[in-house]
Amino acid sequence: MKSIKNILITGGAGFIGSALIRSLVINSEYKVVNIDKLTYSGSLESLKSIENRKNYIFEKLDICDSINLQRVINDSKPDLVIHLAAESHVDRSIDEPIDFIQTNVIGTFNVLEGVRIYYQSLKGLKKDNFRFLHVSTDEVYGDLKNTNNFFSEETRYDPSSPYSASKASSDHLVRAWHRTYNLPVLITNCSNNYGPYQFPEKLIPHMILTAITLKPLPVYGDGKQIRDWLYVDDHVSALMIVALQGKIGETYNIGGNNEIKNIEVVQQICSILDELLPINNSEISSYSELITYVEDRPGHDVRYAIDSSKINKSLGWKPNENFESGIRKTIMWYLKNHAWLKSIQNDNYKLVRLGKSK
Ligand SMILES: NC(=O)c1ccc[n+]([C@@H]2O[C@H](COP(=O)([O-])OP(=O)(O)OC[C@H]3O[C@@H](n4cnc5c(N)ncnc54)[C@H](O)[C@@H]3O)[C@@H](O)[C@H]2O)c1
Repeated sequence: MKSIKNILITGGAGFIGSALIRSLVINSEYKVVNIDKLTYSGSLESLKSIENRKNYIFEKLDICDSINLQRVINDSKPDLVIHLAAESHVDRSIDEPIDFIQTNVIGTFNVLEGVRIYYQSLKGLKKDNFRFLHVSTDEVYGDLKNTNNFFSEETRYDPSSPYSASKASSDHLVRAWHRTYNLPVLITNCSNNYGPYQFPEKLIPHMILTAITLKPLPVYGDGKQIRDWLYVDDHVSALMIVALQGKIGETYNIGGNNEIKNIEVVQQICSILDELLPINNSEISSYSELITYVEDRPGHDVRYAIDSSKINKSLGWKPNENFESGIRKTIMWYLKNHAWLKSIQNDNYKLVRLGKSK
């Protein structure tokens, strides 16, 4: 879209935001401004490869700081805002929900108000072409239990955790700002992402990094919880298609068509590690012997599964990776990128519990 020149991204130092920014800054001429508070899960190390590019600016900022947020929005003159900043870890939301309400609800309110004031000051084509994309999760829909159903864009919201309830609240605010103030918004609800640069407390990096130190691999409950996994670069391509071509006011579900039980994810990681990094000199012969089952977490949803036919049919998006190809790439990346890991672990790194599913 020629009319889009300046893109403002919140939460761009996180897992998905940094993948989005690396792709935009390297592959396009958009001028990208990244607002991030750099909480424990945000790291500028993930953006090292593009930090000196002319079309990239970083602003360390909390989205709850409405005065400075307004200044950065006005100064960066965005044609497109992509809002990813959030507290994102379900287990942390159970232990300390306050940060989730603060950032995901109040923070999103601040972003919406800042963007609304800016949008209302625009004129002509700059105003006509302006877009706001809110990045959300399939967890707002709750639990499909052991059914054959899928989440569609019409599925009723029924969140189970403080994280998903805070994201559901933010989605409602975004829709209300569209209906009440005509803010030109789009919403995406995506399934579990995985890939390089994911913070090591999440299920896949946690299992890879624990396995290679030959420590027990803790799996919640019976491990039969089903998630739909999407490689992060496929999420990035979906976000840009929705941002540039989606219909204003609409919601798009994004999924990978990779419904897999958590235990199977862990088994697959173990079998790829057996091949790439065979165990020598140990009492065990396969990483899968490290799997142990631990007490399930409260409110743990059994099954999420996304119907992504709307984005596929209306915008032509589909994922490039299947789980087999994506998980192999991811494991190889973690095996090669110890420097990134070390910097993350030195930086306020704190594991709350082990064996996460998201
Ligand atoms: N990871 C997934 O599987 C997944 C799936 C669907 C949707 N999402 C959504 O995508 C978005 C990004 O997820 P992620 O996995 O990259 O999360 P992440 O935790 O890796 O990154 C979040 C980023 O937001 C920043 N941040 C947090 N609070 C902030 C604040 N108050 N002000 C400014 N910045 C702040 C953090 O520093 C971090 O860089 C979230 O909104 C999440 O709900 C994630």
